[in-house]
Amino acid sequence: MPRPRLVYRCQACGRASPQWMGKCAGCGEWNTLEEDVEAPRKPASPERTGKSAPVPLSQVASTSFSRRECGIGELDRVLGGGIVEGSLVLIGGDPGIGKSTIMLQMAHRLALAGMATLYVSGEESAVQLRMRSERLGITSERILVYAEVVLEEIREEIARSRPDVVILDSIQSVYSAGLDAPPGSVSQIRESAGVLMEIAKGTGTVVFVVGHVTKEGWIAGPKMLEHLVDTVLYFEGDASGAYRILRAVKNRFGTSGEIGVFEMKSTGLHEVRDPSSIFIHGLGGEVSGSAVMATIEGSRAFVVEVQALVSRTAYSMPRRISIGSDQSRLSVLLAVLEKRSGVFLSNSDIVVNIAGGMKVSEPAVDLAVVMSILSGSLDKPMKKGMVCIGEIGLGGELRPVNHMESRLREAVRMGFTGALIPASNLDSVSSLKGMQLIALQHVRDALGHLS
Ligand SMILES: Nc1ncnc2c1ncn2[C@@H]1O[C@H](COP(=O)(O)OP(=O)(O)OP(=O)(O)O)[C@@H](O)[C@H]1O
Ligand SMILES: [Mg+2]
Repeated sequence: MPRPRLVYRCQACGRASPQWMGKCAGCGEWNTLEEDVEAPRKPASPERTGKSAPVPLSQVASTSFSRRECGIGELDRVLGGGIVEGSLVLIGGDPGIGKSTIMLQMAHRLALAGMATLYVSGEESAVQLRMRSERLGITSERILVYAEVVLEEIREEIARSRPDVVILDSIQSVYSAGLDAPPGSVSQIRESAGVLMEIAKGTGTVVFVVGHVTKEGWIAGPKMLEHLVDTVLYFEGDASGAYRILRAVKNRFGTSGEIGVFEMKSTGLHEVRDPSSIFIHGLGGEVSGSAVMATIEGSRAFVVEVQALVSRTAYSMPRRISIGSDQSRLSVLLAVLEKRSGVFLSNSDIVVNIAGGMKVSEPAVDLAVVMSILSGSLDKPMKKGMVCIGEIGLGGELRPVNHMESRLREAVRMGFTGALIPASNLDSVSSLKGMQLIALQHVRDALGHLS
């Protein structure tokens, strides 16, 4: 009988190594190897072999999966239209961001629709959960609270009570008594995820798993958990601020990249149905160092404000800080500005921030970043009611972006009257009433559009 052996497992990619190394040979991350016990593999059971045979794709029976709205519009949107029977959903996020809150609120809505939820709490006692539910004004006979951390017990309870939905809060606190590894270790998490997947697929129960994110930004420890589950949702935003963004990073039953916006109040997470209204204030044109752009997240467009602070540096190496947009992209844009339009900022510290805790990773934000920096550096505000949308190439040329028309429509809806856009995008947009389009070929042309 093979015995468990000690290995060092990368917390990022899950690769096991017989000895400790500073750098993982699999993913190249540093200091990610931690002690772990590798359980021996079970020999393939003879009765399983030969039971299934390959089937032509055309002959596979097609069943449409059953989806049900949970009643929280922003959560339903991120899930691709509601919860799907037999799906395993991972919800991750920083400590205190609101994972348990949204799960309890969802359980409440589902209870109102007649669905039973088993809330397995490994982190908090039943009393703590009760205190939260009182604060949120939630009480229901259909929500069963189960403070348990042993996987086998949880499995039995699910088989006994047959809930429609299981919430496991959190996967790091649960352990299998059959594995000689601590809770939260890679083997335990993998084991728990395997069992939960079996429950979800075998019984049609919808399983939500809460996972913490480590400092490095992984669902602790393993990233591989993301591969195992059907849907991965991440809570983003500053836990000390009011707004939270729930993002679908992966979804086997819907579009990934979809986001939901919430506001955290003492009564729980409240949906923000019109995100544009929280990310901008007014139509700009008042202060320097600010430019507005319209971004696309999933199927939705909304406007965000890019702010830049440009100040004389006190260091030999000026500082470049980018909050909410790509840091290395900022360096590239500054180099392009210097080389292609003769704007020298090498004596300036530059901080770029997307207001409201929003993250914009698409290159369509380039023009707004550049305009906010130029506006901050020259101390000239942008013209009032102007949005800037466009990608900037290394030659300084403005490159077209996708969904330009949806972006412009959203800007018009919010009261904007002018847009700086790449000339190459003009063909893709029909004329919009009340919106003056200014086509730019090159980043140097943008300089003349500060007031
Ligand atoms: N009385 C309150 N009034 C307003 N907001 C509160 C109150 N109590 C808690 N909160 C908010 O709820 C957040 C905690 O929510 P929750 O417990 O759902 O987060 P979590 O992601 O599950 O955290 P953890 O990682 O600790 O499990 C706090 O950070 C705070 O923003
Ligand atoms: Mg919690």
